[in-house]
Amino acid sequence: MSLNIIAPSILAADFGNLQRDVEMVNNSAAEWLHIDIMDGVFVPNISFGMPVLKSIAKHSKKILDVHLMIVNPDQYIKTFANLGANILTVHYEACPHLHRTIQAIKATGMKAGVALNPHTNINVLEDTINDIDLVLIMSVNPGFGGQTFIENTFSKVSQLKELIERKRSKAQIEIDGGVTDTNAKKLISVGANILVAGSFVFKSENQIETIKKLQQLANIH
Ligand code: DX5
Ligand code: ZN
Repeated sequence: MSLNIIAPSILAADFGNLQRDVEMVNNSAAEWLHIDIMDGVFVPNISFGMPVLKSIAKHSKKILDVHLMIVNPDQYIKTFANLGANILTVHYEACPHLHRTIQAIKATGMKAGVALNPHTNINVLEDTINDIDLVLIMSVNPGFGGQTFIENTFSKVSQLKELIERKRSKAQIEIDGGVTDTNAKKLISVGANILVAGSFVFKSENQIETIKKLQQLANIH
């Protein structure tokens, strides 16, 4: 187990060869597999739903890190737990009763994550950070893979790290969107523990090598 984790995002995989791509991740240095569920309402795109997740879970040997970009996530928490999700991340912006949602996720045995859109300030987590297992900072606007990394993310990670330390929270920090070999090391140096990478991994020539490279960049101190 390495200290910092790479989570390839299956959204950038070839869906016609999903089993092959899930097995590629099984054979790689990645410890988590990131799975984006989009409903076309919370975000302007639809990815895939439960039957596809079921197939992914059947073949994957990695920790399943499920990122819900959907409205009303509460009604599906048990379903995602039954499908084999290990971490369930909901968006702050989609949860009017966030504290209740976090408790409901943890009651199933899954780890609870909270994602923040690029426009959402870290300070909204002041009163929940001690209940959260993971904070996902969106480094692009959610909805699509292959977008450009938003540079303001670095300062948000520093602010989140400060909040976590001040409150003595155990929350991990995950970065999602536009992660490449040019920003991976700096993200870790400002406090991130988990890096999601979609296009950079799946559009590369040698995907296993790309994951290995990110893994090394994320663990140089
Ligand atoms: C975007 C998704 C991301 C996406 C990242 O809404 O949450 O997980 O797959 O893709 P890349 O790494 O291509 O930006
Ligand atoms: Zn995601």
